[in-house]
Amino acid sequence: MKASTSRCIDIVLHAGMFALALTAGHALAAEGDPAAGKRKTVTCNGCHGQTAMKSVPSLGGQSPAYFVAAMIAYQDGVRTHATMRDVAKAWSLQDLKNFAAWYAEPLAPATEGAAGPRSSERCAACHGADGRDAVSPDVPRIAGQKVNYLEQVLREYRGGTRVHAVMQPQAADLTDDDIAALARHFAGRAGLQVK
Ligand code: HEC
Ligand code: HEC
Repeated sequence: MKASTSRCIDIVLHAGMFALALTAGHALAAEGDPAAGKRKTVTCNGCHGQTAMKSVPSLGGQSPAYFVAAMIAYQDGVRTHATMRDVAKAWSLQDLKNFAAWYAEPLAPATEGAAGPRSSERCAACHGADGRDAVSPDVPRIAGQKVNYLEQVLREYRGGTRVHAVMQPQAADLTDDDIAALARHFAGRAGLQVK
């Protein structure tokens, strides 16, 4: 009981911090030029534009502030995926903002809510009930994301191979069954699309 209370407080504190980052996130999005981003997506399309590539994340509808932060994390080596590190290093910050502006649309229209597994209740504090209306632009949209990618990423946070101070503790106590159920739930919600 005590542990879950302190987790709740933790979540509320984190959510508050993200809310403060809101203004900065919007400013970032406004600086990107979607048309300029689109012109440079030829290589991206070979992976991200393919529905069949099940462990390549869908980008259509992703939050621009999260998108840019993810690319910088590849550049800095915080995110270690070898291909994406090489991809990310090829671009300037302005290019990253342009890509982010291009991939920000479209987000599939919301459908009626569906009850998730019990373990999904705490996710809503940051990702929103359906995983599409995150509390801050720094939190990724996960609704509609590919099920294999979601499963893989949650295992990586749990195992510590994907490093993130907020998400690692969220995934630490999930069982394999929890992870499978969470991935199915969020992948099944309307949101991100292959673009
Ligand atoms: C060879 C395939 C490939 C190419 C080409 C590629 N990507 Fe990726 N991308 C991936 C994979 C796989 C991941 C997931 C990596 C991981 O687990 O961190 C990824 C992750 C990302 C992410 C993080 C998404 C998230 O939800 O966290 C962004 C943003 C991204 N790619 C943008 C791009 C852009 C922009 C381009 C083109 C300039 C590009 N990628 C080219 C395979 C590719
Ligand atoms: C306190 C806020 C918070 C809570 C609660 C939270 N998340 Fe997250 N989540 C984040 C943030 C911030 C990131 C971005 C982390 C990064 O850049 O690696 C993230 C990233 C993710 C990603 C990676 C998305 C991508 O595109 O790579 C997945 C999947 C995810 N969360 C699922 C969940 C699930 C499932 C739960 C509930 C069990 C949950 N999160 C609870 C804040 C939260």
